[in-house]
Amino acid sequence: MRSLVRETSLEPSALIYPLFLCPGEGVRKEIGSMPGVFNLSIDEAVKEAEEAAALGLGGLLLFGLPESKDEKGSGAYDENGIVQSGLRELKKAAAAKKLLLIADVCLCEYTSHGHCGIVKKTKSSSGASSSGASSSSTKGSAAAKKSAAGSGKSDSGSDADYEIENDSSLRLISKTAVSLAAAGADIVAPSDMMDGRVAAIRDEMDEEGYEQIPILSYAAKFASAFYGPFREAADSAPQFGDRRSYQMDGANLREAMREIDQDLGEGADMILMKPAMPYLDVIRAARERFDAPIGAYQVSGEYSMLQAAFAKGWLEPQRAMMESLLSIRRAGAGFIVTYFAKDAARVLG
Ligand code: PBG
Repeated sequence: MRSLVRETSLEPSALIYPLFLCPGEGVRKEIGSMPGVFNLSIDEAVKEAEEAAALGLGGLLLFGLPESKDEKGSGAYDENGIVQSGLRELKKAAAAKKLLLIADVCLCEYTSHGHCGIVKKTKSSSGASSSGASSSSTKGSAAAKKSAAGSGKSDSGSDADYEIENDSSLRLISKTAVSLAAAGADIVAPSDMMDGRVAAIRDEMDEEGYEQIPILSYAAKFASAFYGPFREAADSAPQFGDRRSYQMDGANLREAMREIDQDLGEGADMILMKPAMPYLDVIRAARERFDAPIGAYQVSGEYSMLQAAFAKGWLEPQRAMMESLLSIRRAGAGFIVTYFAKDAARVLG
């Protein structure tokens, strides 16, 4: 009777499993704050893909830890970069026939400063943060973006100020998307939150012959404390400042709707909301308002806090995990990116 009247269900094919690719061979290094999640060399990632395919998961979301980092994040768009090489190997594996390979598009894992775009140093005359007051905004959060990295934490002994250069970042981000498509990504997923990135990526990919590759845009990505463990996993913590100038204020649901509207207008094929559990109302609102496919990312901190409670014996692991995923589904996510993907698929059978 319960199954007859159940309103919401989950299937393994709606779950996407994130992988963190790193250089080397035979590397399987557990991330301290994320039990059961690893930095994997490509050979190990192939094994992981086989397991994911056997469990019937929908796909993999690929992140990379490059050999070295620089100011311009050149590892992100290097044709022999870690994710590009990983994609080519994963494509050869039989598992790839059953799994979507989604490539995260961002610079933060590849830049020495850890920001998602190009950072320009500016001398602020007073030494105090200008909060972007001088920028002339054209749309959305552009003005806020200008105050960028420097406003969060003052770096000692220097009155240097910083800005994220939106437009030069766009060129590198589109270049990254093209190189990932060329290496075999089935979907590219920009997570940088620069303004205008979806249109820039779409243009560049169309021009280079990847017009059939869809864009899954992290349209509504909140500046969240719940990304903490990911920054350990991807070694991408900003070296100064924070991401509040380009990620969204958690207080703003209507702004999230505008961001989604804008990304769909620029040509996004699907949208991703993140984090998931603290923003279920935003997922629900997006589901009611837009007809595009919507996914949600149950991010690292959501995973870690549940794992911590499991380790303490404070929550029943299986039930709490499934309840968390069901809540995200019920809120309106068609698919869920989650570090629990394999465990949940095992439960679903
Ligand atoms: C990169 C990116 C982040 C996440 C996904 N892509 C980190 C961030 O914005 O700091 C977070 C995912 C997670 O926490 O699991 N821009």
